[in-house]
Amino acid sequence: MLGNFNYCNPTRLYFGENALDSLKYELQKFGRNILLTYGGGSIKKSGIYDDVIKILNLCGKNVIELPGVMSNPTLEKLYEGCELARKNNIDLILAVGGGSVCDYSKAVSVSTYCEGDAWEKYFINMEEVNNKIIPVGCILTMVGTGSEMNGGSVITNHAKKLKVGRVFGEDVFPKFSILNPVYTFTIPKYQMVAGFFDIMSHIMEQYFSGDDDNTSDYIAEGLMKSLITSSLIAVEDPKNYEARSNIMWTATWALNTLIAKAKSTDWEVHMIGQAVGAVTNATHGMTLAAVSLAYYNKIKSYGLKKFARFAVNVWGINPAGKTDNELADAGLKALEDWMNKIGVVMHLAELGVNESMYQDIVDGTFLLEGGYKILTRDDVIEILKASM
Ligand code: NZQ
Ligand code: ZN
Repeated sequence: MLGNFNYCNPTRLYFGENALDSLKYELQKFGRNILLTYGGGSIKKSGIYDDVIKILNLCGKNVIELPGVMSNPTLEKLYEGCELARKNNIDLILAVGGGSVCDYSKAVSVSTYCEGDAWEKYFINMEEVNNKIIPVGCILTMVGTGSEMNGGSVITNHAKKLKVGRVFGEDVFPKFSILNPVYTFTIPKYQMVAGFFDIMSHIMEQYFSGDDDNTSDYIAEGLMKSLITSSLIAVEDPKNYEARSNIMWTATWALNTLIAKAKSTDWEVHMIGQAVGAVTNATHGMTLAAVSLAYYNKIKSYGLKKFARFAVNVWGINPAGKTDNELADAGLKALEDWMNKIGVVMHLAELGVNESMYQDIVDGTFLLEGGYKILTRDDVIEILKASM
């Protein structure tokens, strides 16, 4: 394992069927004014909203509600949240929902007291946060992003056709997150499997970088194997607690900074996927699924040894008599078969992409340097074409 790093994850997790019981202890640590952020209404249908409100009332909190946080939260919505938080002198933002609500809450947390424009400062210029940060707590209802235990926050600016992810520091990580696998039983299948692929992509995009023998890669292989096993159970039996709890825990560890340690990390699939998301508003995990096979086939030869290892250690392919190239192909074929089995979107056209959008997608794709090959703009176009 090469590289120098420090490691600290400040988020306290409460996991399991009774996890919500711990909310009252956490609430004692914060002041009275709570900004309750949530999405389009799934928490009202499932009853989670009522359970949370009951605890907030019992704890004597003053609750200000901010509903309607959309998937792929927008800049306009961010400004709305900042105004509400400023007016009400908020002590804690309590996010109840999926990655979008958690991400959004972190964005409000850093932007409310920002001097100047938060989009320019924190999402374009990537400046350090030097203003008051409102603490965030999460009650997670959708699994995939890892937002419950990281500093990530992705905001979409439709006017600029940009979807930008910012990874904030430890002071922006949720102070606590409540993870009850039962909450995930009601996620619609399309969202559920998009989340499964998002998890897989997070792991692969850290795994497919570097050549050293690195403990992070062994952890990544274990996480991928658990995800593959449990996802195949969950698509047949969505209320299988064991499978859904494994997936929930895997998702958290896939993107809570642990397996990035001493890795350069790739993230190019996310860059292309986010650019696709900016022009189509498609579901995040599906944008990744649609471009992944074309991407990995393009870069495979630059990281052949790792792709061969992926085939053997993750998919259990027998290496006897096979070249690294044959193994790499077999690994990617196994990935494709799994994607088909869980039922993710395999083609960009299904997400509404057409040729006229290529230029905007390429313009919105950041070209990173941590993976096995640094893409050119022409490479991105080729990947888009091959993904249609
Ligand atoms: O809005 P509601 O009504 O709650 O419905 C949501 C939404 O329509 C629904 N849902 C969530 N929990 C449910 C449920 N429906 C029924 N039962 C439940 N228990 O699911 C839909 C999708 O929710 P959303 O939060 O948008 O999904 P996800 O968790 O995939 O979050 C996606 C966002 O996270 C960003 C993405 O870019 C995207 O904007 N990401 C954040 C990352 C991070 N913080 O590190 C990394 C990721 O790579 C990702 O980029
Ligand atoms: Zn993702």
